[in-house]
Amino acid sequence: MSYDLIVIGTGPGGYVCAIRAAQLGLQVAVVEKRKTHGGTCLNVGCIPSKALLHASHAFEDANTHFDKLGISVGTPKMDVKKMQAFKQEGVDGNTKGVEFLLKKNKVDVFFGLGRIAAAGQVEVTADDGTNQVLQTKNIVIATGSDVARLPGVEIDEKVVVSSTGALELESVPKRLVVIGAGVIGLELGSVWRRLGSEVIVVEYLDRILPGMDGDVAKNFQRMLGKQGFQFKLGSKVTKVEKKGKGATLTVEPAAGGASETIEADVVLVAIGRVPYTQGLGLDEIGVQKDAKGRIQTDAHFSTNVTGIYAIGDVIAGPMLAHKAEDEGVAVAEILAGKAGHVNYDVIPGVVYTAPEVASVGKTEEELKAAGIAYNVGKFPFMANGRAKSIGLTEGFVKILADAATDKVLGVHIVGANAGELIHEAVIAMEFGGSSEDIARSCHAHPTLAEAVKEAAMAVEKRAIHM
Ligand code: FAD
Ligand code: NAI
Repeated sequence: MSYDLIVIGTGPGGYVCAIRAAQLGLQVAVVEKRKTHGGTCLNVGCIPSKALLHASHAFEDANTHFDKLGISVGTPKMDVKKMQAFKQEGVDGNTKGVEFLLKKNKVDVFFGLGRIAAAGQVEVTADDGTNQVLQTKNIVIATGSDVARLPGVEIDEKVVVSSTGALELESVPKRLVVIGAGVIGLELGSVWRRLGSEVIVVEYLDRILPGMDGDVAKNFQRMLGKQGFQFKLGSKVTKVEKKGKGATLTVEPAAGGASETIEADVVLVAIGRVPYTQGLGLDEIGVQKDAKGRIQTDAHFSTNVTGIYAIGDVIAGPMLAHKAEDEGVAVAEILAGKAGHVNYDVIPGVVYTAPEVASVGKTEEELKAAGIAYNVGKFPFMANGRAKSIGLTEGFVKILADAATDKVLGVHIVGANAGELIHEAVIAMEFGGSSEDIARSCHAHPTLAEAVKEAAMAVEKRAIHM
């Protein structure tokens, strides 16, 4: 049996690619080395982290906000084991859902490690060591990414953990030290802080969330500080020594200088992720990678070897599930003779903390660096009726529009439900819309989305409620 397409890896990039290709009539197989589908995202990433963020948020609400609403529930207690079972239920529901969808779309599934023996040949080695070689016209590599390691720091997933271990903790650490103030550090730091941990974040740069709009990051850091997060910015960890049940970190200024030590019960290493290509046999067949180890692809996701394509975290671009999914759809469509395409200018990014942070398009820093003249429209949730009525007034919406054409170039939100609100900006930008377009679209009252409309009106200094 020869396939039209074999996809290696069934994360959001791979399984979506396989399903789309099957919808378009291709004969498709997938190869997955885990026992379940869904990759990093469903098993140890997006899905379990959001379950813990949800549970810990509900706990904190009960602890700190219910009283103001007139609700008394006594002192809430957290049963971490039960919370972890809730998380697992969500993970299982999702991974089984993917299994069902692959079956429904008649995609053949091979569990085992995939290696590209040659263009058109994928060797699958199952856990029990049995081997088979599958023939195919095309191969899509969707093998994702792995945790970036700090040299000299061993991750044991108990005391020194990656995101995977931080999602599995069996009790609330008294003190959690997070290395890296990126998305993982702030999301998982939030989970354990809400449940009672003292959280100290050590970040190499002099700001949190590099890549996000600086104004948003600065304000968000202040909000996290009010919640109890402690930040050591411009600092590097030079040593992590395991001691008894915890660890001692040696930290010094990034630019060098006197060091200090910090004791921790758990250390979370969250300094980024790296592309994962181990065992694929890429060097043997000559597939080119860049200096960061990412598989190099052209505008059609093709590698330098004919018939071999790559998508998702293993190639350049933001390491996000929806980016991987869109690339999966695009490459499947290209392979079926259609015009698959991803608009990299309009990929939203969301940090699922409370408040949430969401962003799409260019930041002010990027526009300045590119010499593009822009107008800013900013509207605070403090002036939004719905936000006031539910006591969620932190944050703002900021719209950056081209000074000459009014085209929306970037939207940055920090505030409740920012991760949902951002999508009206995504749609506007996908259609090449202007701030005027958003400002003149009727928004239901009372909604948080009205803050987006008012920010658009503020671009021309005509917001009503400010
Ligand atoms: P992956 O999901 O990594 O899947 C790759 C698959 O390939 C894996 O199942 C792996 O087992 C398999 N594989 C690898 N090599 C082989 C081989 N040789 N043979 C067979 N199979 C192989 N992104 C978001 O957009 N939103 C979020 O909220 C979010 N939260 C995250 C939270 C955490 C804690 C982490 C770690 C990541 C999060 N991400 C989030 C990022 C997201 O998980 C990734 O961007 C996404 O999973 C990438 O998809 P992918 O298909 O490229 O790779
Ligand atoms: P990240 O790239 O978001 O942040 C890493 C942080 O660590 C940066 O601030 C960086 O400056 C800092 N850093 C790097 N080396 C350091 C060192 N030696 N000492 C101190 N600080 C150091 O990476 P993160 O948080 O690990 O997440 C990995 C990927 O997973 C991200 O690319 C993200 O896109 C994805 N992800 C997405 C989520 C979402 O969409 N909500 C949630 C979680 C992860």
